Amino acid sequence: MFEKLVIKGGKALQGTVKLRGAKNFVSKAMVASILGDSKSILHNVPRIKDVEIVSKLLILHGCEVTYNSKAGILELDPENILSPRIADVDTLVGASRIPILFCGPLLHKLGEAFIPNLGGCKIGDRPIDFHLESLRQFGAVITKQTNGIKITAPDGLKGTKIHMPYPSVGATEQTLLTACIADGVTEVSNAAIEPEIMDLINVLQKMGSIISVATDRVITIEGVKNLKGFTHTALPDRAEAASWANAALVTKGKINVQGAKQQDMITFLNIFRKIGGEFDINDSGITFYCTGDKLKAIPLETDVHPGFLTDWMQPLVVSLTQAQGLSIIHETVYENRFGFTQALAKMGAKIQLYTECLGTVPCRFKQMNYKHSAAIFGSTKLMGADIKVPDLRAGFSYLIAALAAQGQSTVDGIDIIERGYEFFIDKLQALGADIDLIKN
Ligand code: EPZ
Repeated sequence: MFEKLVIKGGKALQGTVKLRGAKNFVSKAMVASILGDSKSILHNVPRIKDVEIVSKLLILHGCEVTYNSKAGILELDPENILSPRIADVDTLVGASRIPILFCGPLLHKLGEAFIPNLGGCKIGDRPIDFHLESLRQFGAVITKQTNGIKITAPDGLKGTKIHMPYPSVGATEQTLLTACIADGVTEVSNAAIEPEIMDLINVLQKMGSIISVATDRVITIEGVKNLKGFTHTALPDRAEAASWANAALVTKGKINVQGAKQQDMITFLNIFRKIGGEFDINDSGITFYCTGDKLKAIPLETDVHPGFLTDWMQPLVVSLTQAQGLSIIHETVYENRFGFTQALAKMGAKIQLYTECLGTVPCRFKQMNYKHSAAIFGSTKLMGADIKVPDLRAGFSYLIAALAAQGQSTVDGIDIIERGYEFFIDKLQALGADIDLIKN
């Protein structure tokens, strides 16, 4: 079946959207449940593809998974964990990046694992060398196969000293999930400390782990003998919250994002205000709105936490097409995250990409010929167009652009958006968007 969205732009979005748990946390907490000797319960879980894919992989490994989508409650019971048929795991090849995080927990519980080749957004090569290097340092033996990797730990997993070449979120999670019941102490330097990582540490501590985070981003994990199940409420999705903020800004509307948390979004809120947006913070969330003043162009660099989250960048680009003057963005986390700007140019945006580092943040892509800096000239009138979604955050950015554009747009590939934005069509319609889903 083929689905696409038809959007008629020009209407201000007004109303409330309910934010649920962070996509980039809930799937990791689900993996952590494997380490427990008893059942875990996770609250505030959104109905998104990543949760579906990880649930399937857990069930293939003999775990019991019960999801109440309405209540957002996920029950996970790893008691009968088993090694699955490789052919069954194979069905999930290319579905997500999360399976790589199963390595440590499955090695601890089963002594072996087969991880299918990964999927995930095409915003760069997305290598897993840091993950594999970290696992080898714990004592894992890795055999690469055409459709994935086979991994064993003949002498068990021992605590070790790991230095992250780059503060990788996934590789830090890999190390946490492996170290917490490894034999001895593990120290990870240059670790990532995103709010989603800190919430995973909350979960592991609830399970019985001993984990400390030093001011210089060195994380120390003292391996314990066993862990129990957890009960936890996932932190809200700050990437989704920022997407709605930009939707309010470019449609000149007002959106109350229920559940959004200021402390995880301070850097975003500063930038949102600097370009001319405004927000009211209350106990139930954050209301984002356009003041009516002309938007202002800015220079911006993405970075690891507490810097400007790379997932916030793509929706902000659409807002910057409506700002007066020349904005400059230096994307320092992914080498190829500006591909989506071609479709915005088709709609009338004036965006030039550069291989140079247009900023001061030290960047791995210097002289590497990746177009990872952008100049956005505004403001430009956006006209509706037929667009195809390349990746998750770009997909939502296209929706924002179509909502702000004059005329009609069609958007193909919306299943990619469903990976990370729960019920986004219903939410947009409730905010007054003129949007229809066409199936044929
Ligand atoms: C997580 O990806 C998020 N995804 C991403 O969100 C997010 O943009 C990213 O962290 C940074 O915050 C999930 O949590 C599922 P990384 P991850 O490892 O863990 C390089 C979204 O839209 N690297 O921190 O894959 C890598 O190529 C997604 O929700 C290696 O070189 O990100 C990249 O340049 C997009 N080798 C940089 O590190 C490795 O082994 C950051 O990647 C691992 C990473």
